[in-house]
Amino acid sequence: MKRRDFIGNTLIGTTGISMGAAILPITASAKGANDKIVLALIGSGSRGTGTIISTCKGNANVEIKTVCDVNDLKAAKAISMIEKELGYKPGHSRNMKEVFNDKDIDAVWISTPEHWHALATIWACQAGKDVYVEKNPSINIWEGRKMVEAAEKYKRIVQIGFQNRSAPYGFSAREYIKSGKLGRIVQVKSYNMLGGGKWVAKPDTEVPPGLDWDAWLGPSPYVPYNPNIHDMESRGGWGNYWAYSGGVLADDASHVLDLARMVLGDPGHPKSIYGWGGNHAWGSLKETPEFQSITFDFGDYTHTCDSGNATNYMKKTPNNIRMDPTLFPDWRTNATRTEIYGTEGLMYLGRHGGGWQVKGEDSVLIAQDGGIFPDVDHQKNFIESLRTRKKPNGDAEQGQLSASLVHLGNIAYRVGNKRLDFDPENERFIGNEDANKLIRTASRDHYKIPEIV
Ligand SMILES: NC(=O)c1ccc[n+]([C@@H]2O[C@H](COP(=O)([O-])OP(=O)(O)OC[C@H]3O[C@@H](n4cnc5c(N)ncnc54)[C@H](O)[C@@H]3O)[C@@H](O)[C@H]2O)c1
Repeated sequence: MKRRDFIGNTLIGTTGISMGAAILPITASAKGANDKIVLALIGSGSRGTGTIISTCKGNANVEIKTVCDVNDLKAAKAISMIEKELGYKPGHSRNMKEVFNDKDIDAVWISTPEHWHALATIWACQAGKDVYVEKNPSINIWEGRKMVEAAEKYKRIVQIGFQNRSAPYGFSAREYIKSGKLGRIVQVKSYNMLGGGKWVAKPDTEVPPGLDWDAWLGPSPYVPYNPNIHDMESRGGWGNYWAYSGGVLADDASHVLDLARMVLGDPGHPKSIYGWGGNHAWGSLKETPEFQSITFDFGDYTHTCDSGNATNYMKKTPNNIRMDPTLFPDWRTNATRTEIYGTEGLMYLGRHGGGWQVKGEDSVLIAQDGGIFPDVDHQKNFIESLRTRKKPNGDAEQGQLSASLVHLGNIAYRVGNKRLDFDPENERFIGNEDANKLIRTASRDHYKIPEIV
């Protein structure tokens, strides 16, 4: 195996130093099918641990050297699960900078909460590591653009965890639309209408033992520990705060929006956005809305997104349908579907599998393709990209465009349920400075993304 050339491989301290200055870029070298690929997991919650194990099981010569987490309990759980499933015990680090400085590690699997995704990806690229990073890839439009710049500058493979981009049924839907069989697209409606309940505030508490709370907060402003934000054993509620997430729109609707964009041939940014949202369903006093309804103007058609935690009777595609390519959901109460209205027919498109069906007059079935949940396909695509150096299916630019739909919808809500015009070239709003202030959010000194990555 040809190891990467590290120049000036200095170990970086835990705080205060720009990684870009100390870790120099490397020359990308494609790995052959038999070369070993060494991964590190950064953020060992249930998502990261499950997907990295599945990647090692489903792809030859891929192994995990290090589990990095600021929560010792989750790291220990992940290490013992890796030992059970893969038969060896990886090491542990609390500091991702140690991972970036480890010459043995080829690629990092970033599965932290959203507020760490961009910075960790940029540091990884600067250190010459390839990256699989979970969705939503960023918490604002500016940092997402910096991820794209870092991937390009350091010639890194960056795969965003929008796994539907590797779904064979997504490709066939895209071909169907491209062939013109659906006619001209007149409207697209994405739904991510999940269940939920009232959010209730909790008092701050002591930081639990075994957690580096300051490092968990990372780029976001320092706040005392609160059990509504964080839980030692499960995901906790960080998704309800703008500092760590873009709410349920980022957490889940990002998938339907991304898949819809992909089958429509990956359009660029919309020209304008109207966003509405609020906590009217349960009356929660939380930052992120319980329900949102957004309209994106793409010029030739509009794309709407209805998303939230307010409709308990709507369900995600059930497990039996997810893994059976012959079954399709009952679209009416399917919580995570997209409807694409063409002049010649209506396409229902599932996510988590569920395939697609085109219906015409009187609901007559015109065409369909089944499909299963594409996590494993996406993992395989990442490993193939590491070996071939070809762009992965979920590349950073498409991740930025899809994530921006989330940010645009959230910003329109946050400035008061407004209609906003957007300049796609410069990724800025036209004529609304309150909205422009949310393009980039403040970060703490030790965790700043540089202007030039
Ligand atoms: N693609 C999908 O379908 C899908 C599904 C579920 C979750 N996700 C995404 O995966 C990510 C993780 O989700 P989860 O449910 O496992 O969340 P989680 O909060 O349970 O896990 C995140 C882990 O990151 C760790 N972490 C935080 N800061 C860190 C740092 N500085 N260094 C190292 N570790 C750090 C936390 O301690 C925690 O263990 C999220 O972004 C989520 O949106 C994607």
